[in-house]
Amino acid sequence: MMSVIGRAQPRVDGPLKVSGKALYASDHRFPGMVYAVPVCSTIANGEIQGIDTSAASLMPGVHAIFHRENIGTLFRATVNHEFGADMVHLDETRAPLEDDVIRYYGQYVALAVADTFERAMAAADAVKVTYRSLQPNVDGQLAPETNRKTESERGDPAKAFGEAEVRVDQTYDLPPETHNPIELHASVALWDGTTFTLYETSQGVVNHRNVLAQMLGVSKENVRVITKFMGSGFGGKLWPWTQSALAAAAARQLDKPVKLVVSRRMMFQNVGHRPRVQQRIRLSATRDGRLTSLRQDWVNHTSILDDYKENCGEATPQMYSVPNLRITSALARRNVGSPSPMRGPGAVPGLWATESAMDELALKLGIDPVELRLINEPELDEGLKIPFSSRHLKECLTTGASRFGWAERDPRVGSMKRDGLTLGWGMAGCSWQAARFPCAAAVELRDDGTARVSCATQDIGTGTYTIVAQLAGETLGLPIDKVEAVLGDTQLPAGPLSGGSAATAAVVPAVLEAAGKAIDALLALATTAPGSKFAGRKAADLEYTSGRVHPKGEPATSGIAFETFLRLGNLGAVSGLGSSEGCGAFGTTKPKFSSHSFGAHFVEVTWQPEIARLRVSRVVTVIDAGRILNPLAGRNQIEGAVVMGIGMSLFEETSYDQRTGAPINSNLADYIVAANADVPALEVHFVEYPDTKLNALGARGIGEIGLAGVAAAIANAVYHATGVRVRELPITIEDLLT
Ligand code: MOS
Repeated sequence: MMSVIGRAQPRVDGPLKVSGKALYASDHRFPGMVYAVPVCSTIANGEIQGIDTSAASLMPGVHAIFHRENIGTLFRATVNHEFGADMVHLDETRAPLEDDVIRYYGQYVALAVADTFERAMAAADAVKVTYRSLQPNVDGQLAPETNRKTESERGDPAKAFGEAEVRVDQTYDLPPETHNPIELHASVALWDGTTFTLYETSQGVVNHRNVLAQMLGVSKENVRVITKFMGSGFGGKLWPWTQSALAAAAARQLDKPVKLVVSRRMMFQNVGHRPRVQQRIRLSATRDGRLTSLRQDWVNHTSILDDYKENCGEATPQMYSVPNLRITSALARRNVGSPSPMRGPGAVPGLWATESAMDELALKLGIDPVELRLINEPELDEGLKIPFSSRHLKECLTTGASRFGWAERDPRVGSMKRDGLTLGWGMAGCSWQAARFPCAAAVELRDDGTARVSCATQDIGTGTYTIVAQLAGETLGLPIDKVEAVLGDTQLPAGPLSGGSAATAAVVPAVLEAAGKAIDALLALATTAPGSKFAGRKAADLEYTSGRVHPKGEPATSGIAFETFLRLGNLGAVSGLGSSEGCGAFGTTKPKFSSHSFGAHFVEVTWQPEIARLRVSRVVTVIDAGRILNPLAGRNQIEGAVVMGIGMSLFEETSYDQRTGAPINSNLADYIVAANADVPALEVHFVEYPDTKLNALGARGIGEIGLAGVAAAIANAVYHATGVRVRELPITIEDLLT
């Protein structure tokens, strides 16, 4: 045992991907399939006055031009935020084409369907829409705001701040960021007169099915959602977007399979984004560096109809020991599509601000920034007043400092040089909640000596097929090539969202239980199968070890291969079903422990003032994410997240045209993400302390934690190199020339 878990296991789905055999949503094609292209609003605020489809309808190959009058009824889903098999959640709650009001640029107003993609494009272009247009509001200054409310509170922060010896009071801005996974959003919808089969790129097929059933007005047994492979999601694909309902509705109206692929430009308009966030941070401390108060007041933009809250206070109440704290949130409505989660929602923007402010406080105090964090390490979660299940932030800080060589740091701005370059060294701590969603899974032992493990969670590119196969292989004592992992289909036992870095923690207990039950069923079979050597014995006297059944106390090598009993019993398989409750922030129970992953980033930048060139030249990241089930996949997650952090710090920003409300850099030439040349070699280290309060193997999630804190560490390094404190991302050369 314990031979498969913890091993650097390459992706079991790797060969399918590199050979092009893995089918993504838009790769599916069916006889008679037609292509749908949405018509997007060219205003951001106003009303449709008329839609003239006469020219478009007559174009060659056109099957239909759908709009509000002829798409059929689409309902608003009644949300149920409770995680699990009955969850119904989406960020844009308005059903597509529901009314004639335009609330954001690019809003779908019609849908052209034709026998080829090109003809559908041409028809969409030929639809003439007239509008009554109003001035849109996409203002980047987020006051005035609505709904300011308290998120967390303790002590009297105003009083403590007023009396404090050392204070920081600054505002930190984050621009809107757009998810840009390589795989575009896409829906291929089939309707057979009773049932919809929807090929989607979904981070949660079960929720997607529940939402679409409601929008389409059918029972959820009549919707099947399939996501076998995904070219990444990052939260943008957590919830269904309106193109899915449009494709399904068109398939029903036309009685044909319909494919709808969202364009890269529409990715900036219609399928979520991280909202603009402005945060005022007030910190105070004693001269010797003890925090006395922390206030975080944030506002994020949201759409006209939806209350998307970027939960910036996610990590704040428990990150450091501070007796007086207040966190408030507010929303500012803008003419933009609904925002949505983006990797590390809340905590990533929140830590950008609070970890920048901690650096500013360290400077004022004249205390090393690592030391300041060590001084303020809490004994327990002071927000929830419960113990941590496992917390090793201090070790992340000290290990990172020693691996980076932090002791060599000269704190004076611009004082460190190498090869004619000015060096900046900065660091930040990070945290991300650890939780478990409810989950069910099935395990089968089959008559060919293999096992099958299945669950309606999905692999969003992070390695879930591999982890699930490892878990089953570990429990069954079978090599991983004897285990088939089947995911991404609502016909399988209801599995969790691939989100919140909580899928792995969720599947562990369910798969372990399912495997145990499959073994129980096998042992029972061994006592009853005709001709079995163990016929007539008690199952309790038998034991299963690494694929063999043997009497307890006798060596496993003397046992009989499990498939023998299946053949004797004339059974294809025995199976077990396992399930587990949610826990922590995504569960239904009141937590006894506060569970989070922790970490620290240490960053070196190089600065050449002569030519205004800033590079990230070195990153050392140390992560406490419990037991690492697969170091290859784990490291890959953290490295990818740090790359996103470099993009967030230096490049990414969605720009809206103030006159039209259009996202104007809506392509990968103008919306800059980090490329290879922007990314140095990344050093990732795990401190491995199993968090067995979360599951038997002690694994926490490991996606979003890697992005948290990176932007602050880079901004802190930039200050150290240049003396310029940038409080508005992205950090541009222009900021550093002032
Ligand atoms: Mo993550 S933002 O929960 O996909």
